Amino acid sequence: MRVMSGTRTSGALHLGHYLGWLSNCLKMQDQYDCYFGVMDWHGMTSAYKSTHEIPNWNRDIFAEMIAWGLDPEKSTMFIQSHVPEHIELFMIFSNLTPMGWLERVTTWKDAQEDAKANDTHNLGRFAYPVLQAADIAIYSGQLVPVGADQVSHLELTREIIRRFNHLYKAKLPEPKPLLTETPAFPGLDGRKMSKSYGNSILLSEESKSLKRKINSMVTDPQRALRENPGNPLVCNVYTYHKLFSSETDQKWTVEGCTTAGIGCGDCKAKLCGNIEQLIEKPREKKKELLNNPKQLDSIILAGCEKARTEASQNLKTIKQYMKLIV
Ligand code: TRP
Ligand code: SF4
Repeated sequence: MRVMSGTRTSGALHLGHYLGWLSNCLKMQDQYDCYFGVMDWHGMTSAYKSTHEIPNWNRDIFAEMIAWGLDPEKSTMFIQSHVPEHIELFMIFSNLTPMGWLERVTTWKDAQEDAKANDTHNLGRFAYPVLQAADIAIYSGQLVPVGADQVSHLELTREIIRRFNHLYKAKLPEPKPLLTETPAFPGLDGRKMSKSYGNSILLSEESKSLKRKINSMVTDPQRALRENPGNPLVCNVYTYHKLFSSETDQKWTVEGCTTAGIGCGDCKAKLCGNIEQLIEKPREKKKELLNNPKQLDSIILAGCEKARTEASQNLKTIKQYMKLIV
């Protein structure tokens, strides 16, 4: 079984990336033959006005992935733009993709106003899912760990591949999404966690700012006074406890909150400690990696070469199916 996945280059990864994507990839690498990409061409669809940031973001994400346990010895890890075969296959797939299919993709259809406001109502963004289909097919990906927001992209990928197989009597595998069980993970303010809302906790958040961010979270307004009991079910801090704290700590929270046995400060301090415990080691490991740029670069280079060998072989097969070459 071939696993293929990636994350779009758009600045530092946050806890939402961990729960929705990275944690799933980590589970895959011991069982399957995995390809994990840092997708900078995808990043460019929104960052085309600040392309100077992209190389640094790529390295940051690459280091983060290793620091959290993705192992370049076990999995093939690469940067998308270093494997130009993606773009060739993207071009081939573009011809097989009717405009109507793309117009129906929810991430395009539902983001019209946003895209116009951000100056991203353009061909690159429109064709985003076609490039994603190429990313997957260039490695014959069969299983694709992604967040729930990516399901419509995977559907399109399957449609394109079916069409390809039909037209050229080919046998490219139809990939399936593999969704994390984690429910939607809200940002600090309760909205979707996103860099553009400034409501995220980074995977490499420093202790001090982690504390500051958690302390800034809004709690149950019933608990205006320390002696007022509250309802954890309406409190985002508790939502976080459910994701990052042990069952014992969750029970402690519910009991303490509903009986006013604990204050919100205690509750947040506990959460903060648990998140710190999760991110502390990878955060330090990432610093180490970034402090040794030569070593990191050679790991990146080796990964990209490995990916490229596989991609160029597959591209050749694809062109043979199309009778472009013999
Ligand atoms: N679109 C994905 C996201 O935003 C990133 C991505 C690009 C990807 N190419 C991919 C994911 C191929 C899986 C497979 O998260
Ligand atoms: Fe929220 Fe915890 Fe305060 Fe209860 S005690 S309102 S769960 S922060």
